[in-house]
Amino acid sequence: MIDLHCHILPGIDDGARDMSVSLEMARRFVAEGVTTVACTPHILPGVYRNTGPQIKSATNALQRALDDADIPLRLVTGADNHVVPDIVTGLRNGHLLTLANSRYVLIEPPHHVLPPRLEELFIEVQAAGYVPVLTHPERLTWIKQHYGLIQRLVRSGAWMQITAGSLTGAFGRDAKYWAERMANEGLVHILATDAHDAQRRPPNLAKGRETAEKLIGGVAAEHLVVTRPSAVLANQIPSNLPGPESASTGPTTTEAERRPRESRTIPPFGPPGRHALDGTHRGLLGRLRRLFD
Ligand SMILES: [Fe+2]
Repeated sequence: MIDLHCHILPGIDDGARDMSVSLEMARRFVAEGVTTVACTPHILPGVYRNTGPQIKSATNALQRALDDADIPLRLVTGADNHVVPDIVTGLRNGHLLTLANSRYVLIEPPHHVLPPRLEELFIEVQAAGYVPVLTHPERLTWIKQHYGLIQRLVRSGAWMQITAGSLTGAFGRDAKYWAERMANEGLVHILATDAHDAQRRPPNLAKGRETAEKLIGGVAAEHLVVTRPSAVLANQIPSNLPGPESASTGPTTTEAERRPRESRTIPPFGPPGRHALDGTHRGLLGRLRRLFD
């Protein structure tokens, strides 16, 4: 398997705290059958001031450390590029990074606010020759109000990356509901860990794949963690790849809807109200980080 979204680089954002955490994460990836990981730290002006050249050099340094420790994991570069108006300029001048220098680029919008002109921005990115990959739409608090926008983005050629932990329930009921619904409706292209450490948000791609298999079947799940990620690394064009499949039981049926009524934990026609409120981060920086965590 290949993980295309991971905060494994040490001390560069809110991911791995230091090299020992990075190495522990890498060992876990190898143990669960991951061969390649994209190092995708946040690039968020004013909060995480990472740049393309800095990420490339940190990735090389971590790769050397993995090799020295005999951990058979291949690293490629990337970034968790937060929405900024001049994203195309940033990609062209190397300040922002695509995945493994391919045409595929992770784009993360704010979690709690739909940014203005997001559709236009995606069109602009695509017109410049890139394939935008929206990170973890299932965890955005505004997905409920703007699900039609997510569907339109997919129809116009954008890719969707959902988080392994969302399918397993690690991010709560809302994220699980939307992850299942999107998977069932054939709106998901990539499953990734978005791992930040070895404990709280650890590498869990195998478990995520297993959960996806139950939902959409083995072949479709393999496409999420092997076929399409390999194609991204090879910079293949998306039209040559299998599109995301809908669940065989129907395009709008979620796993919850298929379970007997008495065993449902979430309502069938929408997610429960917000229940897991924000943590207790203090200060402006903490709140800003929480917004984009
Ligand atoms: Fe991330």
